[in-house]
Amino acid sequence: MKTRAAVMYGPGVTKVQPGDHVVCSFVPACGTCRYCSTGRQSLCDMGANALFGMMPDGTFRFHGTTPDGRLEDFGGMCMLGTFAERATVSQHSVVKVDYWLPLDRAVLVGCGVPTGWGSAVYAGDVRVGDTVVIYGIGGIGINAVQGALSAGAKYVVVVDPIEFKRDTALKFGATHAFTDPVAAHDKIVELSWGQGADTAIVTVGTVDETVVSSAIGTVGKGGTVVITGMASPEHLTLHWPGIDLTLNEKTIKGTIFGSANPHHDIVRLLRLYDAGQLKLDELVTTTYSLHEINQGYQDLRDGTNIRGVILF
Ligand SMILES: NC(=O)c1ccc[n+]([C@@H]2O[C@H](COP(=O)([O-])OP(=O)(O)OC[C@H]3O[C@@H](n4cnc5c(N)ncnc54)[C@H](O)[C@@H]3O)[C@@H](O)[C@H]2O)c1
Repeated sequence: MKTRAAVMYGPGVTKVQPGDHVVCSFVPACGTCRYCSTGRQSLCDMGANALFGMMPDGTFRFHGTTPDGRLEDFGGMCMLGTFAERATVSQHSVVKVDYWLPLDRAVLVGCGVPTGWGSAVYAGDVRVGDTVVIYGIGGIGINAVQGALSAGAKYVVVVDPIEFKRDTALKFGATHAFTDPVAAHDKIVELSWGQGADTAIVTVGTVDETVVSSAIGTVGKGGTVVITGMASPEHLTLHWPGIDLTLNEKTIKGTIFGSANPHHDIVRLLRLYDAGQLKLDELVTTTYSLHEINQGYQDLRDGTNIRGVILF
């Protein structure tokens, strides 16, 4: 994570002006493709090359020299690049935000907050009185907790092997926390009078068959499993009797950016924060200077941060 401040702009830029405060969205949204124009900006066609960092015009903005002296292009992660003090980005990747908001908090709504919050509110379609289970309480999962609560869930059950993560989820309002998914399943059966969870959200660091099976087995009739965490492309992650899906009308769906619309939801979430209805300050466990980046990675691996932010 990093703070990104005021913009400068080149020819053809119409969405922002010099001095605007912006949040960089990891999903670009052009506003005009089939998906953007039907309210599904998270699926914007421009996202196709975002993981490789190629800009919409087919060029790259980062360049380097190979050991044998050749000039080479490098993709900026999600068309943004990370850990640079300055970057050239597409206007479709930036969302203008209210100037009075602190940028070291606003930065959180470029990825983790909308992805987790939207996994519950949009992809999971959590309703008042629902029972929700969330596997994995990192920067994404903790915001799924916030989303589920804001949608009115009665019970929010979390599963994470790390005590600090479970405790943080409880502080954010989760109702129950478990290390063991079987214990979580049994509690949910008890809480729901045998019906199972309405929504399960998978936000673990690396999704595998075991956690997906736990999620499908814990939702009840008409339940939805949302897979937000990324899986290795080399492994199958779904192995479940289709008859359960058919007879119990279960839905399994993936989501990118929590199925949120960057141009609407980034501003919306920040205004919820401004109104005291969304926690952002509490998400930041540690801040780092750019020189401390390796410590930030180590803390991420050690599970000691909910979110780390680099301050320039
Ligand atoms: N779909 C999207 O749009 C999107 C966007 C950003 C990140 N992601 C993905 O979401 C996932 C989570 O990201 P993050 O930043 O929150 O990661 P993180 O590393 O901060 O948190 C992951 C958490 O999962 C827990 N965990 C690991 N295995 C578990 C298991 N089997 N059961 C329960 N908990 C388990 C870890 O202890 C950790 O607390 C990653 O796969 C990331 O790539 C998806």
